[in-house]
Amino acid sequence: MSVTVIVGTQWGDEGKGKITDLLARDMDMVVRYQGGNNAGHTVVIKERTFKLHLVPSGIFYPNVTCVIGNGVVLDLAGLLGEIKSLKEAGFSLNNLKISSQAHVIFPYHRDLDAAQEQTHEAGRIGTTNRGIGPCYVDKFNRRGIRVGDFLHPEVFRQKLEWNLKEKSFLLNSFYKMDVAYDLEEIRKEYLGYFGLLKEYVAEESSVVVNEAISVNKRILMEGAQGTMLDVDHGTYPYVTSSNPVSGGACCGAGFGPQEIDEVIGVVKAYVTRVGGGPFPTEIAGGVGDELRERGGEYGTTTGRPRRCGWFDGVVMRHAANVNGLTQLAITKMDVLDSFEKIKVCAAYEKEGQVIRDFPTDIARLEGCRPVYEELPGWRQDISKLTDYSQLPANAKKYLDKLAELAEARVTLISVGAERGQIIRI
Ligand code: IMP
Repeated sequence: MSVTVIVGTQWGDEGKGKITDLLARDMDMVVRYQGGNNAGHTVVIKERTFKLHLVPSGIFYPNVTCVIGNGVVLDLAGLLGEIKSLKEAGFSLNNLKISSQAHVIFPYHRDLDAAQEQTHEAGRIGTTNRGIGPCYVDKFNRRGIRVGDFLHPEVFRQKLEWNLKEKSFLLNSFYKMDVAYDLEEIRKEYLGYFGLLKEYVAEESSVVVNEAISVNKRILMEGAQGTMLDVDHGTYPYVTSSNPVSGGACCGAGFGPQEIDEVIGVVKAYVTRVGGGPFPTEIAGGVGDELRERGGEYGTTTGRPRRCGWFDGVVMRHAANVNGLTQLAITKMDVLDSFEKIKVCAAYEKEGQVIRDFPTDIARLEGCRPVYEELPGWRQDISKLTDYSQLPANAKKYLDKLAELAEARVTLISVGAERGQIIRI
């Protein structure tokens, strides 16, 4: 068995890009299995910062095949821009493959995303406005246009024509927007993008991935977003439209679950969330602001300030359950260096009841208050440490607490943005 899955255990932005880049060095293949350019995976190599949105975070190693799986939704212009800037930075991109089954985001998906956000009766989701949700709607409603459709220009034209009719009606008549789409213009524009991307388009990602599995290659599945944004297991409806959880890797890349041997949960040492929706350990002002500033907590994709709060053990336990975590990678541990006391939420309390299992029904979640345990801080700069034995005793105690709550072992501790700022256990 040779497949490792990397998943976010919170609301995204846990630092999966850095962990993927780190592990990719010893891999043969890295696969993105869901989401789209709503994701922002930051990799810092020496003084250079790369913000990846669609290209898998293994791209910096030319011998690692990087696959954009069938479960991803693709913004073609966005992908081309990313490829261009990576090429300009000196990477060949010869190792990139795109599944022919990945669905394509069109302008009407972005317009629908914006229209829905403006008129949503139950409140805005706070999406990234990239058209992600509407593109997945079309996929599941069997109206979507896939990368492989561009190989059949007449099929593509027919599908596009039908979609433009339907979406124009929805946007103009229901959402009272004023849109006019030109079939020929969009058709040519997208065929143009496809022409530039064709060299990367592979057959089905399942073929590419299973071929690699059959010859015992080491494969890393790179999840985007996080467990609490999962459309089934997150804080619905304040979620994204895909399955970032480990099981999503099987569907989004096309292989069987028995092939997975490790599931690494990426865990930020505190919690952040961007966009709307419940966040039980959120701290407005004070410590929340300090975490944001010390941690540089501003969205990689949208630049929005992230909401910040203490570590949530109830969320952690939920993530451990739905992902089957076998290892933990703790990130941004150094951000907590300055705190005298650090709080960890071990359970929630509501109407006198102790709640240990995360209620994904937001009506049940409402009114849940965190019950905190307070741990002593270490008040020492740990950003230059490279060995577990060098960590202050209180930092080790904190890590033990997180491992206890997750019932999984900590194997990696990130103490800064740069590649080398990592402690392996
Ligand atoms: P969408 O994925 O653009 O539809 O946005 C749905 C929700 O997921 C919003 O709250 C977004 O802020 C959030 N979201 C989507 N992608 C990411 C991500 O990569 N990191 C953090 N939050 C995200």
